[in-house]
Amino acid sequence: MEFKQKHLLGIEPLSPSEITCILDLADKYVQLNRQANKHSNRLVSLTQINMFFENSTRTQASFEIAGKRLGADVMNMAMQASSIKKGETLIDTALTLNAMHPDLLVVRHPHSGAVDLLAQKVNCAVLNAGDGKHEHPTQALLDALTIRRSKGHIKGLNIAICGDIAHSRVARSNILLLRKMGNNIRLIGPPTLVPQGFSQYGCEIYDDMRAGLKDVDVVMMLRLQRERMDGGFIPSEREYYHRYGLNTEKLAYAKEDAIVMHPGPMNRGVEIDGTIADDINRSVIQEQVEMGVAVRMAAMDLLAQNLQKSRLQNPDSTNKKGVLV
Ligand code: NCD
Repeated sequence: MEFKQKHLLGIEPLSPSEITCILDLADKYVQLNRQANKHSNRLVSLTQINMFFENSTRTQASFEIAGKRLGADVMNMAMQASSIKKGETLIDTALTLNAMHPDLLVVRHPHSGAVDLLAQKVNCAVLNAGDGKHEHPTQALLDALTIRRSKGHIKGLNIAICGDIAHSRVARSNILLLRKMGNNIRLIGPPTLVPQGFSQYGCEIYDDMRAGLKDVDVVMMLRLQRERMDGGFIPSEREYYHRYGLNTEKLAYAKEDAIVMHPGPMNRGVEIDGTIADDINRSVIQEQVEMGVAVRMAAMDLLAQNLQKSRLQNPDSTNKKGVLV
């Protein structure tokens, strides 16, 4: 099995065997992370720069820990207070960073496609940590690892993704990944938040949560992404919780051993009831966070291997200037 990618910009370009390759290596990193000595030297002497143009708690921390565990020199750029505020374009910021010879760039940006654009301008590996409503590949990979470890496989499962699908990059990346691996996806939510167009991805669409949850193996809940909504998509949070909030009564429609997932941050009492989120027999929300570090270690390890291979084949590439088009 070979991982051929130069960047991790989305799930879309990945083959099922590349996905499996990341998950298999991540399984090994889960073991390492559970030991007292959590260090490996896979990224020693490499520089990782985290550029988060949008607020993030868990994703940024997870990428930082992942890089440090592998021995990279990790730097977090405070993009909120950066030169962007002084009028610099994304491309100029990228070229400036590129001149510092980073090896791995981890980027989160509020605009769909921005990370892709940046990747074309630099000569290092770029990882998408979430771009607008487009993709969040490491979240989908960590969700896949969580499901695979909990169910023993990741094929032929019935998986419900519930809530604000329209504004969610997590939903998009998960749909792409879980379909590629041969699972059945049901999207559940009000029509305002679950566009019919998603049926083109081979998903079934439900606006009745009880019908949608019937006999599913996995229930994935999503936050209402208010920062990306330009108008009223739901009548009120109370009404939304009543119809689409996951509680014990609605969860009873799923299989008895169905697991409950959430990418975080969670809004208790809006999309999920606190007792379900805290139920250690059903909720795998903490496992998702644990798998996040391992998946990011695996992705950065594989990308760094490919980067080093291409630098050996083309030794001048490291000194090339970024491309200004
Ligand atoms: C998600 C994101 O930022 O897209 N969170 C995350 O990465 N853990 C989902 C969200 O913000 O609701």
